[in-house]
Amino acid sequence: MITFEQVTKRYGDQTVAVDGLDLTIASGELTVLVGPSGCGKTTTLRMINRLEPASAGRIAIDDRAIDSLDAMTLRRGIGYVMQHSGLFPHRSVFDNIATVPRLLGWKKPAVQERVHRLIETVGLSPSLATRYPHQLSGGQQQRVGVARALAADPPILLMDEPFAAVDPIVRRRLQDELLDLQARLQKTIVFVTHDIDEAIRLGDRIAIFAVGGRLAQFDTPRNLLAAPADDFVADFLGRDRELKRLALLDVRQAPRMHAPPLVDNDRAVPEAKESTVHDWVVVHDNAGRLLGWRHRGASALQPFTDTVSPTTALDRVLAAALRSPIGVVPVVDDDGCLDGLIGPAELRKALA
Ligand SMILES: Nc1ncnc2c1ncn2[C@@H]1O[C@H](COP(=O)(O)OP(=O)(O)O)[C@@H](O)[C@H]1O
Ligand SMILES: [Mg+2]
Repeated sequence: MITFEQVTKRYGDQTVAVDGLDLTIASGELTVLVGPSGCGKTTTLRMINRLEPASAGRIAIDDRAIDSLDAMTLRRGIGYVMQHSGLFPHRSVFDNIATVPRLLGWKKPAVQERVHRLIETVGLSPSLATRYPHQLSGGQQQRVGVARALAADPPILLMDEPFAAVDPIVRRRLQDELLDLQARLQKTIVFVTHDIDEAIRLGDRIAIFAVGGRLAQFDTPRNLLAAPADDFVADFLGRDRELKRLALLDVRQAPRMHAPPLVDNDRAVPEAKESTVHDWVVVHDNAGRLLGWRHRGASALQPFTDTVSPTTALDRVLAAALRSPIGVVPVVDDDGCLDGLIGPAELRKALA
């Protein structure tokens, strides 16, 4: 657990970079610091490993004030990943990753084993070990940066815009890999970004900072999107806030259409019994398996282009509903049985 109590950082020219910060970062969680450029994210991060001293207030790790530790001891427990990997250009990948274990005086075989294990952990090919940083792609460099930060197995990992300089496709892959890594390693990660989408994808909790180093809101992505504290936060989350909320929910959290016009194909259903509210019916067989839909009174069955499962995210359900000629999407469970219909009205209820 990392705690900030009334922490302020004033630089020499009187710029207030962080203003009276109270924040508790839980162990084993990925906490994202997000906000516009210049709002004090990097400063906050660098105060944790004392690369910047705080001007006022108290920072503690597991209730021990960081000032009570010597800087070497403190930093041994903290890995640090920067935007431009910060790799040593004249050292090979292997030597970069081996930096901290060697500083700590590990024996050669232990260093070897650790470096090779980490190269695998971050998804790099072992053949890259002898390359130099300039012979790597941006994504590969960032992976080496993460491996180097993890080398001494620190409980805390600080990451300052680590994926900002790579293209969107590689960034997405690196994000997935980080989530995967975190599921296995359960580090206390403090991750800085200015990209709200990245924050929502990665964060267990998100701290939104405003210019002037003020913490505007600190909560889970779901809670932030459901209830932004003020106009600044709402604005920062974006006008598509509802779509972002849908992306964090799945079909299990949405109701099904009430009294859907369903027809069992194997039974003769009189026209009068069919829905008069909708001009279509959804057809299933007598085992409950989806067959398609047809216009009321017509006999020609049409297939659905999209069906969704109980674990489909609701933003994808919305897209499927917009594509559907009848405006609703059938939910098909793992046994292939029809589990109701979802349309825009049900999505609205899921957000309510
Ligand atoms: N070494 C420094 N000296 C003076 N001002 C600084 C220094 N580093 C950062 N600042 C200022 O402090 C504020 C916060 O900077 P920073 O923490 O880097 O923000 P962010 O990472 O959110 O972009 C900015 O106004 C920046 O110009
Ligand atoms: Mg920064």
